[in-house]
Amino acid sequence: AIDPEFEQNRETVDEHEGHDVWGPVEEPEQLGIHGTHVAVDFDICIADGACLEDCPVDVFEWVDSPDHPESEIKADPTHEAQCIDCMLCVDVCPVDAIDVDAG
Ligand code: SF4
Ligand code: F3S
Ligand code: ZN
Repeated sequence: AIDPEFEQNRETVDEHEGHDVWGPVEEPEQLGIHGTHVAVDFDICIADGACLEDCPVDVFEWVDSPDHPESEIKADPTHEAQCIDCMLCVDVCPVDAIDVDAG
């Protein structure tokens, strides 16, 4: 599962589509965590898609992750600023790849 303390345990190494990327990143095998308020551990995501289907405000978009061992696409929290903290995505992800900091 995603580390809920990732902000303490990791460092930002990049920016992507307006959100932070928390390392370590070593492409293509290791992609880190994308987003902060809505955080997706790309190294855990298996592209189940439930988060994209269920998010009421369309926070997520697919991004390609060729040659990643878990899946060739990932759910990117492109619109994390729109999140209304409903926690649906956290509940439906089968591999617990998502952390939402509802404060
Ligand atoms: Fe979307 Fe709700 Fe997840 Fe926020 S907590 S990203 S609104 S499903
Ligand atoms: Fe990935 Fe979980 Fe969404 S596996 S696509 S973050 S439901
Ligand atoms: Zn991203």
